Amino acid sequence: MGQMECLKADICQLSVDAIVNAANTRLLGGGGVDGAIHRAAGPELLAFCRQLGGCETGDAKVSPGFALPARYIIHTVGPVWQGGDRGEAALLASCYRRCIEEAQHLAVQSVAFPAISCGVYGYPHRPACDVAVASLAAALQGAPSVLRVILVAFSDEMLEHWQRALSHR
Ligand code: APR
Repeated sequence: MGQMECLKADICQLSVDAIVNAANTRLLGGGGVDGAIHRAAGPELLAFCRQLGGCETGDAKVSPGFALPARYIIHTVGPVWQGGDRGEAALLASCYRRCIEEAQHLAVQSVAFPAISCGVYGYPHRPACDVAVASLAAALQGAPSVLRVILVAFSDEMLEHWQRALSHR
């Protein structure tokens, strides 16, 4: 089964087969990691995403990586945190599961994830990482081609949350 690890990095710089984008339902770019990925991938990414027709919260769609080191970008839309009783955990788990399903379909071996919904969408970091690790552990059981999952932190605080979630699995 695929191994999970975490590190602090700019996901745009990682030489992995696929990176995951924490997008919005329009898939036309934005701030945060979405903005960074679009800047690094170049204008072809927006042109490609225009024909994807958006993405539901909890779902995932694939594009080429264009100017990125990564061959693919798996765009997913996390839930906006609304207090925790609006199905946010299930939607977040679905993001990670669907991204692994797409990675398996692409037969990629390495996938890097940002902390989906942990920025603009306001999901509390500690429970988000626990949901992510549990969902990934389950999804990886059915994704034999995915050998390496990298959980990327963009801050020391987030790295500590990833490390804690991985140590408690
Ligand atoms: N590399 C890795 N992680 C990053 C990077 C980067 N270059 N830039 C930001 N992050 C981290 C943030 O620090 C946060 O922990 O990604 C995590 C997700 O935060 P956001 O990018 O704000 O994503 P999210 O909370 O899912 O909100 C999505 O924000 O940018 C818009 O278009 C996007 O509307 C969508 C919403």
